[in-house]
Amino acid sequence: MIRRHFFLHVTALAALGLGACRPPESDVPAPEVAVVRDVLASDGGMVVSAYPEASVAGAEVLAAGGNAVDAAIATGLALAVTHPAAGNIGGGGFMVIRFPDGSSTAIDFREKAPLRAHPEMFVGEDGEYSYQIHHRSHLAVGVPGTVAGFALAHEKYGNAEWAGLVEPSVALARDGFVVSERLAGSLGRMVDRFRDYPASYAQFSRDGEPYEVGDTLLQADLAATMERIRDEGRDGFYLGMTARLLAEEMERGGGWITEEDLARYEAKEREPVRGTYRGYDVISMPPPSSGGTALVQMLNVLEGFDVAGMGAGNPEVAHHLIEAMRRAFRDRAMFLADSDFADVPVERLTSKAYADEIRPTIQPAAASVSAPADVDAAADWESSETTHYSVVDADGMAVSVTYTLEGGYGSYITVPGAGFLLNNEMGDFNGRPGLTNESGLIGTDANLARPEQRMLSSMTPTILARDGELVAVIGSPGGRTIINTVLHLVVNTVDFALAPADVVAAKRLHHQWLPDRARLENGYMSEADGDVLAAMGHEVGWTGSQGIAHCIFVDGATGELVGVPDPRDSDGAAAGY
Ligand code: GLY
Repeated sequence: MIRRHFFLHVTALAALGLGACRPPESDVPAPEVAVVRDVLASDGGMVVSAYPEASVAGAEVLAAGGNAVDAAIATGLALAVTHPAAGNIGGGGFMVIRFPDGSSTAIDFREKAPLRAHPEMFVGEDGEYSYQIHHRSHLAVGVPGTVAGFALAHEKYGNAEWAGLVEPSVALARDGFVVSERLAGSLGRMVDRFRDYPASYAQFSRDGEPYEVGDTLLQADLAATMERIRDEGRDGFYLGMTARLLAEEMERGGGWITEEDLARYEAKEREPVRGTYRGYDVISMPPPSSGGTALVQMLNVLEGFDVAGMGAGNPEVAHHLIEAMRRAFRDRAMFLADSDFADVPVERLTSKAYADEIRPTIQPAAASVSAPADVDAAADWESSETTHYSVVDADGMAVSVTYTLEGGYGSYITVPGAGFLLNNEMGDFNGRPGLTNESGLIGTDANLARPEQRMLSSMTPTILARDGELVAVIGSPGGRTIINTVLHLVVNTVDFALAPADVVAAKRLHHQWLPDRARLENGYMSEADGDVLAAMGHEVGWTGSQGIAHCIFVDGATGELVGVPDPRDSDGAAAGY
């Protein structure tokens, strides 16, 4: 049923210099969709994502009567066209869904290792672990999961016609879209790196000339792949021409993914990780993500401290956040992996009793020390290129999606003739059994590459509720920082009761056990306060930016949706009706 709504802050799509996407066919005129690169309030449906056309694609599905799952699919596919650094059909991710009756579920479409995978697969001919093989080779590519994940979500929970959800991305790829300043800069920086990957070079530059702001980016091969997905659903990716083209590229480059690997890929429905924080319900992603488990563990620890009384952005609260992070990331390194292959103690890690054991180990004003000998694990390197988007429909169904190619533009490999980039997600497996050293390499057993295992992730798509009512849909890119960015979003909402725009804009910090240093966004606190934190024993560093949290909140007083694109991303946009 289509319902009319009004919105408060409206900028017409045309005023942003953007072309509109066509909604699915309907006899009833759909309400007009507004899109802004700022906060948007609406009592209809809402999408907030990393590119305006993608937010519009989802919002138009909502306006035409589709539900939040439908809109999430349309948005995700459109991002695969407009946000090639992280939006994808050649990667994978997670979707957390909360239904209007308060129940929830999660769709796992994380990439998996090919059948030939084994724990020593990232060792070179010299017998040494090879970063190059692990992160930047055809062996770094995992079997993609995104299309299977969207197909499963649609089959189980979608409302609208599948073809109508894919059509906007067909049109965006075939007819093109306007290149933003951010995208032009990003593609410009990639031109030289793409020289070794002819299909990427051809698709993302004009014979080596970078695209400029205002240019139209056309992607004909991608449009043809999207058409196959539109017409054949999951099979349009995992069988037939698309699968053949992908497998041929693997063979050419020495990769191991075969047509059999693709045909066997299955997205999985999983029980979300559920926790509570001061009366709020926290619904997040279970393994193979570490995100939901670590988030709930940290919140349980913080629940025993007067965080609100400490106040925001000062040495005392930073110290307590860091100490909660340190302990959760130690446990992440020890225990977290694909729970279909390893015994992951999620229940214990997320229990209030475990937090009660942890809390007394935190000194009021003195840093603990991260001891590598505690566990055979540590890692510093992890990409920050992933993307998160949030969707809520008029009935209150909420969808939180984080998906990724791992590195920016993944493996840099575009499948010739198919027009989509492949991930380098195998880099999220540990490099080699027992390989742990001070530089941050990691070798614990649970997260080693094995046939069809999914690599450990930090993605933390999360939904907050209270007393049966939806409160917020949140998440972020940023490798391991994702979990801590989401922690800040929860603490800012619950403890500091900030307005939605401030929840997202407030500065963040990150600590991941090892390396044993805290990294604060510039402006998190004054340099003098940074010295106070350092005097407690923390190594303090500063960074320009942490995370990009495209979120939706529900205004507790009016019930309106408040979409907040993270101001750290100039392309982020809220679209609603
Ligand atoms: N590749 C980033 C993550 O999955 O956390």
